[in-house]
Amino acid sequence: MGKILDGKAFANELGQNLKEKVNNLKKEGITPHFCVINIGDNPASKIYVRTKKRRADKMGIIQDIYQLSADTKQEEALTLIDKLNADPEINGVMVQLPAPKQIDADELLERIDPNKDVDGLTPINVGHLWMGDHFVEPATAEGIIALLKHYEIPLAGKKAVVIGRSNIVGKPMAALLLEENATVTICHLYTENLAEITKQADIIVSATGQAFLVTADMVKDGAVVVDVGMNHVDGKLVGDVDFDSVKEKASYITPVPGGVGPLTVQFLMEAVVKLTRRQHDRE
Ligand code: GUN
Repeated sequence: MGKILDGKAFANELGQNLKEKVNNLKKEGITPHFCVINIGDNPASKIYVRTKKRRADKMGIIQDIYQLSADTKQEEALTLIDKLNADPEINGVMVQLPAPKQIDADELLERIDPNKDVDGLTPINVGHLWMGDHFVEPATAEGIIALLKHYEIPLAGKKAVVIGRSNIVGKPMAALLLEENATVTICHLYTENLAEITKQADIIVSATGQAFLVTADMVKDGAVVVDVGMNHVDGKLVGDVDFDSVKEKASYITPVPGGVGPLTVQFLMEAVVKLTRRQHDRE
C-alpha cells in the first residue's frame, strides 16, 4: 500500500513558520491584509472563502470578504478591484472563481494589480510563471511541488502526467513540473486513450472535478498520485482518484480530504505574506 502524502500535517508545519513571519511583520507595524471578492452563490466557493478566512485568522492575517450578489454587473466588480488596487493598506486581492455567466472573469483577473495578485492568475504573472522568473505562483500547483519535495520525491527526468488544463491548476502545475525538469504531458477531456498515457506516468496529478476518474488500471505500480479533485458524491467529499484501489498500486498518494486542499489555502496565505513584505520593502 502506498504512503499517504499528508498535506494537512505539512500545511500545519508551514503554518507555524508563517505565523512567526506575520508576527515579525506586526512588530514593524505591518499586518498582512488581503481581500477576496466572491460573486454569486456558488456553494463550493462559499465554503472555500470561509476556509480561507479561518486560516487567515489563524495566521494573524486580515482577510476581508466582498460578497457580491449573483446579478453584479461587470463595471461594479471592476470598480471594486480598482478601489482595492489603489488602497495602500491592502496587500492582496483575489477574485474567487467561478463567477456568474454575465461576468467576464478574465477581464477581472486582468484588472488586478500584479503586485497584489495573491493567486498568480493575472496575465503578467502567468507570463512570469512560464518564463520561470515568478514571485507568486498559483497556490495549488505551488503547494503540490512543495509537498513532493517535502517527501523527497524526485521530479527531474520523471514522466509527469497532469490531467486537467485549467488556468487555476492544470496549466500552472505543468509549468512548475517542467521547471523541476520533469517530462510533462497535459491530458484533458479530448485526450484519446487516457489510460495508455497515465500508465506511463511516474507522477499523476489529477485536477478534473470528475469523481473516480483515475482507477487502479490506469496507474503504474509505484507511481505517485496527487488528487486535486473536490467532488461531492452522496454527500461525501471525494477526489478524482478511486483512492481505495489506487492506493494499493501507488508508492505515494494524497487523500481527499486532507491532501492538496489544506496546502492550497496555506500557500495562498504564504503569497499574501510574501507580497506584503515586498510591498513594504519597496516603500
Ligand atoms: N476557485 C477554486 N479554486 C480557486 C483558486 O485557487 N483561486 C480562485 N481565484 N478561485 C478558485
